[in-house]
Amino acid sequence: MALQTAVHPALSRVLIDEATLSARIKELGAQITRDYSGKRLMVVGVLKGSVIFLADLLRALGPEVDVETDFVAVSSYAGKASTGAIRTLLDLRHSPEGKDLLLVEDIVDTGLTLTALTETLRAHRPNSLEVCTLLDKPECRKTPFQPKYVGFKIPNEFVVGFGLDYDERYRQLPCVGVLKI
Ligand code: IMP
Repeated sequence: MALQTAVHPALSRVLIDEATLSARIKELGAQITRDYSGKRLMVVGVLKGSVIFLADLLRALGPEVDVETDFVAVSSYAGKASTGAIRTLLDLRHSPEGKDLLLVEDIVDTGLTLTALTETLRAHRPNSLEVCTLLDKPECRKTPFQPKYVGFKIPNEFVVGFGLDYDERYRQLPCVGVLKI
């Protein structure tokens, strides 16, 4: 049975519904499982926006991958505009040196956050470092950053739900939707 997504009053429209999100995350999980089969993978969620995506993605990984999970937190947006300021609020618990790292993010917009974060992590000399993002707004890039795994390319609109927030609200919505202005 298809999942129904009631439109939340804060949304002008649903961009990606639950069933579409679920199917694509399973595909990403299968792709990552193939790519890291037989390896030990350190999956690093970028708090807080990635948590709902990460929870589903982790469960879509097969037993062929030996998965370790950690989190980082960096400062990002206040309201709707990018400050460009990146500050590490929570660092990895264990060193990523020599490990295969997969950073999991909710959305890549300007690319400033992940450019800074991947530079910081590369300084710790992981064996490999890739990024998996649920959403990508390629039109908004201010750096040439390109994530290897992308769930959905979306237009330049401010979206919430499925972990993404507007001033800490709407993360709980089961779909990705465009916020009413
Ligand atoms: P970037 O550094 O501009 O790529 O920004 C990445 C961060 O900005 C994401 O992790 C989000 O927290 C936030 N962000 C960018 N676009 C949106 C959006 O449309 N909705 C909610 N948060 C967003």
